[in-house]
Formats: sequence, structure tokens, C-alpha cells
Amino acid sequence: MNETVEIYPKQYEKILKATQDIGFRQLSELPIGPFLSALAASKQSGSLLELGTGTGLCTSWLLHGMSADSTLITVDNSAENIEIARHYLNSDPRVDIVLSDGEDVIDRIPPLSVDLIFADTWPGKYYYLNEALACLKIGGFYIIDDMKIRADWSEEHNSKIQRLIDHLSQRDDLAIAKLCWSTGIVMCVKVA
Ligand SMILES: C[S@@+](CC[C@H](N)C(=O)[O-])C[C@H]1O[C@@H](n2cnc3c(N)ncnc32)[C@H](O)[C@@H]1O
Repeated sequence: MNETVEIYPKQYEKILKATQDIGFRQLSELPIGPFLSALAASKQSGSLLELGTGTGLCTSWLLHGMSADSTLITVDNSAENIEIARHYLNSDPRVDIVLSDGEDVIDRIPPLSVDLIFADTWPGKYYYLNEALACLKIGGFYIIDDMKIRADWSEEHNSKIQRLIDHLSQRDDLAIAKLCWSTGIVMCVKVA
């Protein structure tokens, strides 16, 4: 597809600048942003959950797509990152930006209550996966990125990635699409 003009969330550029200023390197790549935004838009009056806020880049994309009556809980255990996300996004009444371990937030969420999970950290992805998926409604999206095997990652991490993809592929409560673009996106829909 040809290059097109991207309409960015209002705060995106400022958050990106603040992210670069603190030298945070684990920021999400741009292409997943509009993808998350479109998925968020498909869940009108939705309840969304982001595990791993970082500085709020993808949070801003989720909010960009969400309807006025949707809500988003996002969690990160880094005070420095959360401070940036809160500074730029906390005035939006739809978002609750939580400084905590992801598993503590997962524990507080009722089963079958979430329409979309973007799992961008360890809990809810490499551990606490069953607990996170239990929160998801039937028909809800479970999205992860960084699923491409990379030569500059350790063999141990690459085999973790492969094990996670194999596990998700074999579950009979999920329909899975492995998308080989950007950092490698895996999109699952809960079916049972
Ligand atoms: C890949 S980054 C998230 C990037 C973010 N989604 C974005 O849009 O740029 C992963 C984040 O997970 C956070 N983190 C690491 N362990 C965590 C845990 N146990 N609970 C919550 N957050 C955690 C890190 O502080 C880091 O900000």
C-alpha cells in the first residue's frame, strides 16, 4: 500500500517527545497504533484493558478509536512511565491509568467483562495468561506484538515467543490470526 497521511491522536507527538527525552526504548512501533484504534472503534461502549502502558503511546491510539462511552484501564509498574502517560492522558475521563503490577489489575477484573486486551508486558502474556484471558468476553480481542523471532534477541526469549504462539494456536477457546507485519502481531478472538 502507498504511504498515506496518518491522523495521529491529539497527544501522540507530545508523548513521543517525552518518551524520547527520558530515553525509554521499549516503546511500541507506530503501525500497531492505528490497528488498535480501529479494533477499539469496533467495540462501542467497550471495556478495554492495556497491560504495559509504557508512556502512553498505544493508550493514546486506543482512546483515539474508542467511543465516548467506552472505558480503558491501562497499567504499568514504572512510575516514570506512568507519570508521562498521566500527564498527557489523565484528563480523558474514559481512562484509568494505574501504577501497579499488571497481575494485580488482572486479579481485580471480573471474568468475561473485557472487550479488548492489548497485552504489551510480561503478565497477561508470558505469565498470568489464563487469568488475563478469563477476563475477556466471548468475541473479545486479545492482541500481542513483538512476536517476530529476532536475531538480536536471546535464544531463550525467541523460544518463549515460539512457545507462546504454539500455545495460543492450540487453544480451542481462541481463533488466532498471526500477522507478519510490524513487530509481528498476533490477534486472537475468544470463541468459548
Ligand atoms: C513494551 S513496553 C509497553 C509499551 C507501550 N505499550 C507503548 O505504547 O509504548 C512494556 C512496559 O511494561 C512495563 N512492565 C514490566 N513489567 C511489568 C509488570 N509486571 N506489570 C506492569 N507493567 C510492567 C514496563 O515498565 C514497560 O513500560
